[in-house]
Amino acid sequence: NPLQGAQFILAAHRINQLPSDQGAEVAFAGRSNAGKSSALNALAGHKGLARTSKTPGRTQQMVAFSLPPLKGDEGQAPLDIRLIDLPGYGYAKVPEPLREHWKQEIDAYLNHRRSLRGVVLIVDIRHPLKEFDRMMLDFCFHTHLPCHVLLTKADKLSRNQAQQALAAMRKQFASEGLQATAQVFSSQAGTGVDEARNMVVQLLRT
Ligand code: GTP
Ligand code: MG
Repeated sequence: NPLQGAQFILAAHRINQLPSDQGAEVAFAGRSNAGKSSALNALAGHKGLARTSKTPGRTQQMVAFSLPPLKGDEGQAPLDIRLIDLPGYGYAKVPEPLREHWKQEIDAYLNHRRSLRGVVLIVDIRHPLKEFDRMMLDFCFHTHLPCHVLLTKADKLSRNQAQQALAAMRKQFASEGLQATAQVFSSQAGTGVDEARNMVVQLLRT
């Protein structure tokens, strides 16, 4: 696993508390409870790394994890590489001022973070493309930031239904001229984990 050995660095309430903006990082974004932290753990191959919960609104900070050098990159100039777990978006029970805070911080993060190489957008395969997902896709498209969608919780559907959901999403991307890529995923069943790891490595190398 090329993403093995991820370690917690810090949790930030504001973007200026994040690790210094050098090297390369990939951020995990998505609606509250979509399964972002679980996906990050599945990719890192470390179950307890990012905290997960049945209750939406678990991740209340931007949580940064460092990765060891990628295979083949050892011995080269040291490149700081990181994964960032973003707070969930759109959870109604989070008080409005806090929601507004996160909207602004995520916005600022996406707009100004120079080491950000791409977004992994986590979407529940049963509820594709809600308002936040659309905003994120549009944002990435307009800023030329690569976006890879994990259609997660695929274990909740049959293989056939999951493939249909993927085909429908790709068709939608094509018809709207979006450059985003997508795949079927399940943190629980391990579906699509290798494919997603390869994508994250590719992003970190750009
Ligand atoms: P917030 O931090 O609250 O925004 O949530 P999150 O997007 O980080 O979601 P989290 O990873 O905490 O998972 C939310 C719930 O979904 C938990 O109960 C997980 O066990 C469950 N879950 C996550 N991924 C999967 C999956 O692939 N399959 C199934 N069946 N459940 C999943
Ligand atoms: Mg989380």
